[in-house]
Amino acid sequence: MAVDRGGIMQIYHRVAPLRQALAQARARGHTVAFVPTMGNLHEGHMQLVRLARARCDRVIVSIFVNPLQFGLNEDWEKYPRTMEADIARLEAEQCDFLFHPSETEIYPNGMADQTRVVVPTMTDILCGASRPGHFEGVTTVVSKLFNIVQPDQAVFGVKDYQQLAVIRRMVEDLCIPVEIVGAPIARDADGLALSSRNSYITPAERPRVTLLYKVLCWCRDEMTQNGRRDFAAVEEEAVRQLQEAGFRTDYVSIRNARTLETAAHDDDEIAVLGAMYTEGARLIDNVTLTLG
Ligand code: PAJ
Repeated sequence: MAVDRGGIMQIYHRVAPLRQALAQARARGHTVAFVPTMGNLHEGHMQLVRLARARCDRVIVSIFVNPLQFGLNEDWEKYPRTMEADIARLEAEQCDFLFHPSETEIYPNGMADQTRVVVPTMTDILCGASRPGHFEGVTTVVSKLFNIVQPDQAVFGVKDYQQLAVIRRMVEDLCIPVEIVGAPIARDADGLALSSRNSYITPAERPRVTLLYKVLCWCRDEMTQNGRRDFAAVEEEAVRQLQEAGFRTDYVSIRNARTLETAAHDDDEIAVLGAMYTEGARLIDNVTLTLG
């Protein structure tokens, strides 16, 4: 039987009317799941939307290319914006609400004077080390979006592993009443994790960039199948494999899956995280494993 979802997707650009619509949904007893994005939606995003759909009565997606989380030399200007295609995809997945605000709607007092949300320590490492200020931009905008939407649940991809860990920590530390849900990584057939930035990869290097995922899987297998616990040596060998193939490596790092601290010998839940530069794009990926 068809479920009455209350019609086609409603699109909002302003905070006030969106809040009204969501308040109505909540007054009817509907639970709300939220999927924040920067648009240019691909199958990875759509899996998040489907998970949101399965978990709550109403689904809201936001599309906002958040300038606060881009560094000065980063790709904010050329970041792909594909609004029409995004709307079509969301409607096909029966998304209920789309929030697509302007920069001034989100930062009415300007970005420089914006109150910030900072998760310390775990944002200075890994991607945070090479992208200073990035996670502060993410946690600030996500906490604003949480305050605007007030969802019951919010779905984030495991693809951005550090982002997910940082948001979990923020929600815990600030007692934000939102359940954070992690969604598995969607990959191309050859293993490359889907990303809006994959469009920057040149055709010539595209077949070779799957090496990052292969190397992370190699690290996992060294630990799970060959029993290795000399984490630093495994990391070094992994970096060498990427460098020998001509890729400049940012990091390959074996970490405690929750705290993101360097893995200890008795840690059970492990994440192997990697970031490397290709000609056109900086790529990140990760695999997780349980050590007995
Ligand atoms: P964006 O890169 O658009 O990603 C939106 C969500 O989609 C994130 O939770 C991300 O982890 C997830 N995602 C992206 N690629 C994925 C894949 N291949 N498999 C599974 N999930 C995937 O991440 C952001 O936007 C921003 O930082 C944001 C959280 C919206 C704050 O601005």
